[in-house]
Amino acid sequence: DRLPELLRRMPKAELHIHIEGSLEPELIFQLARRNGVSLPYANVEELRKAYAFTNLQSFLDIYYAGASVLLKEQDFHDMAWAYLRRAQADNVLHAEIFFDPQTHTARGVSMETVVRGLHSACERARTELGVQASLILCFLRHLSEADAFETLEQALPLRDRFIGVGLDSSEVGHPPEKFARVFARCRELGLHIVAHAGEEGPPAYVWQALDILKAERIDHGVQSPKDPALVRRLAQDRIPLTVCPLSNLKLCVFPQLADHNLGRLLDAGLVATVNSDDPAYFGGYLNDNFIQTFAATGLTAPQAWQLARNSFEASFVDAAAKRRYV
Ligand code: HPA
Ligand code: ZN
Repeated sequence: DRLPELLRRMPKAELHIHIEGSLEPELIFQLARRNGVSLPYANVEELRKAYAFTNLQSFLDIYYAGASVLLKEQDFHDMAWAYLRRAQADNVLHAEIFFDPQTHTARGVSMETVVRGLHSACERARTELGVQASLILCFLRHLSEADAFETLEQALPLRDRFIGVGLDSSEVGHPPEKFARVFARCRELGLHIVAHAGEEGPPAYVWQALDILKAERIDHGVQSPKDPALVRRLAQDRIPLTVCPLSNLKLCVFPQLADHNLGRLLDAGLVATVNSDDPAYFGGYLNDNFIQTFAATGLTAPQAWQLARNSFEASFVDAAAKRRYV
C-alpha cells in the first residue's frame, strides 16, 4: 500500500498548530533546567503519563503548565525552531503558527520577548530550511475582552511580525460574540481573522465566528454538520475548516478515529484541511495525522491531493504564490 508514502511526500501547508503545543516533554525538562523552573513532575516519563485527556479543558490545564518553562527570547526561538525542523521533515512548505501571548505575559514575560523569539525562528526557517512560516496571535477566550484589548495594544509595536489574530482556549461558555469589538479593531488594522469554533461548542458559535468576527477560516468546525444550513454557508463562501483529527481523538470529540467526519466534510464540498493542533500532546505531527486518519477512515489518494490543495487555498499566502503551490 503506497498511500502512506504519498501522504508523507505530498507538499502541504499547516494552518492550525499552536506553537506552545509543539513543546515536547524533553524540551520542557531541558528549558526547566536551563531556567531554574521546578516542575510538578519528576521526569519526562511521568509528564507523558499525565497526557491522558477527557476533554479540551483537561488538556488545557497541562498545556498551560508546560508553557511555564518559557522565559527568554531564546526559549521561544528554540521551541519554534524544533517545530519548523519537524515540519520540514513532513514536507510542510508553509506554516501559519498560532501563539498564545497571554499565557506568557501573565507570568511577566514581555510581548516583545515572545514575538521576537518566535519570529526569528520563522525567518531562519525561510533561509535554512526553505519553509515559509508566519505567526497568528491568539486571544485566550476564557479571559476578558479588556485583557484581549490590552494584549492587542502590547502587540501593536510588533505589528509587522504577525499576519493575523485567532481565538482559542476553553470554548464552551465563551462564545465569539464576547470578542466582537476586539476583532472589529483587528479588522481595521488589516489583520487576518480566524477563530476556533465548533470543536466542542455548538454550530451557533461557528455562525458567530463568521457573522460577528468575520472569520476567514474556522479552526476545527467539526460540529458544523449538526446544522445543514451552516454547512451550506461554509461551502458557498468557501470558508476553510482547519481540522485536527488526532486532537479530536485525544480530546474525545470523536470516540474513535474511524468515526471522524473529515470524509463527510470533503463530500459536502467544504475546504477542509488536516492539521496537528498540539502535536507534542496529541501523539503526532502533520504526517501522523494524515496517515492515521486515512488508515482509520478509508480515505483515498484523490482525497489526499484534495486536502493538500485545500491547505494552500486556505492559507494566507498571496494569490501569485498560491498559484505556484496549487
Ligand atoms: N482548542 C482550543 N484551544 C487550544 C487548542 C484547541 O484545540 N489547542 C491549544 N489551545
Ligand atoms: Zn487549536
